Amino acid sequence: MTKADQDNQPGNTADERLPGDLTREQLIERIIRVDHAGEYGAVRIYQGQLAVLGRHAAGGAIKRMADQEKRHLATFEALSNERRVRPTVLTPLWHAAGFALGAGTALLGKKAAMACTQAVEEVIDEHYAGQAEKLGQAEAELRTTIEKFRAEEIEHRDAAIAAGAEDAPGHTVLTGAIKTGSRLAIWLSERL
Ligand SMILES: [Fe+2]
Ligand SMILES: [Fe+2]
Repeated sequence: MTKADQDNQPGNTADERLPGDLTREQLIERIIRVDHAGEYGAVRIYQGQLAVLGRHAAGGAIKRMADQEKRHLATFEALSNERRVRPTVLTPLWHAAGFALGAGTALLGKKAAMACTQAVEEVIDEHYAGQAEKLGQAEAELRTTIEKFRAEEIEHRDAAIAAGAEDAPGHTVLTGAIKTGSRLAIWLSERL
């Protein structure tokens, strides 16, 4: 049985219509498009942080997270090419807003930069968890990738908390705003 046949077996997500009546193809396309955008945004956030804090003591830890995000991005870039998924039209937004968010919070100080990481990674954690659930038994390989990346995003969040994220001035307002913005960017990039 080919992989495509397996994926089309009864009981797989493909055969149950999904919320909002997305076809299986549309779901996969949407997942790859938004995850590619999100990982691109993550790379830009960390680049923005490094532009400000590159020489700070926190620079090494930020650099390691940035390198991991680059690997995430490369994976979704390859998947986009493989499955011929066009990137979101919002790529320029992710490019600019990601960098501005990273650099802007870093300018407020190291703890604010960490609060930004915490907020973004919490949103990504719930985002990836939701996708893994939607995929169900279909697309085992893609689901495994998403779950692996999700575990790494949780590590980033934990590292940010350990580095003082929650002591950032205005932590609740700052993380709340970043989460709202991130969720909106995700919602739009799934659709555009
Ligand atoms: Fe990532
Ligand atoms: Fe991350």
